[in-house]
Amino acid sequence: MSAANENAPVLILLGPPGAGKGTQARKLEEKFGLVQLSTGDLLRAAVAAGTDAGKAAKAVMEAGELVSDDIVIAILRDRLADPDCARGVILDGFPRTTVQAEALDALLAENGQKINAAISLEVDDAAMVSRISGRYTCGKCGEGYHDEFKQPAKDGVCDKCGGTDMKRRADDNAETVGSRLVAYHAQTAPLIAYYKGKGSLKTVNAMLGIDEIAGNLNAIVEDAIA
Ligand code: AP5
Repeated sequence: MSAANENAPVLILLGPPGAGKGTQARKLEEKFGLVQLSTGDLLRAAVAAGTDAGKAAKAVMEAGELVSDDIVIAILRDRLADPDCARGVILDGFPRTTVQAEALDALLAENGQKINAAISLEVDDAAMVSRISGRYTCGKCGEGYHDEFKQPAKDGVCDKCGGTDMKRRADDNAETVGSRLVAYHAQTAPLIAYYKGKGSLKTVNAMLGIDEIAGNLNAIVEDAIA
């Protein structure tokens, strides 16, 4: 983590698949000038590039299970060392296990950094299947959309960059979403108690509309990085 400085904010977004971690991380990135680090995006890039890590991760991701801690921690460690991360980061989808949380603590300690806030996006499982099955993303800039909840102003054209290559993820189907929710409750939900014990846990009601959640998150983040 040589790129970071000790005052650079570190925010964590916790929540099950479809909770809105990516949607809100992109908004926080724009508002606060931080860098969104999504381990899901980093892993999908590794799969597309055909790296050893990507080859090992592909089938695991398609099954909706968690990729091994060793692979994910190595990918995150490398990305955190990039110069842009010295501005501060929003971790989206990491950590997802207690082993990953402890590894993050150790990485941050190397730079004298700390977690400013671990924010849990609280949602009902039942709503997640419809959120995920309606999701698509601009293939050019990564902006996320939804068939029902967040449509671009012009059908098929990205509001942010004008791109027209909209993509749907291979793991966004009802069966895999079920496995991803099981993995979340078994392996990731215990992190809520982990961060509560450290005094860094914040919670938001993520069943509200996207902009209302963003307003509530902005208040938490302003306080956490002050
Ligand atoms: P990852 O890419 O992290 O997926 P995920 O955690 O399952 O989360 P999602 O990206 O599906 O959802 P999100 O919370 O970002 O929701 P979004 O904002 O898109 O991980 C994929 C896989 O990679 C994992 O299954 C695992 O295999 C592997 N992996 C990744 N990290 C790992 C790690 N650390 N360790 C091990 N394995 C790892 O929103 C969803 C949709 O809902 C969008 O269409 C959006 O427009 C809409 N929406 C958002 N908010 C609202 C709202 N408030 N109301 C209505 N609609 C909304």
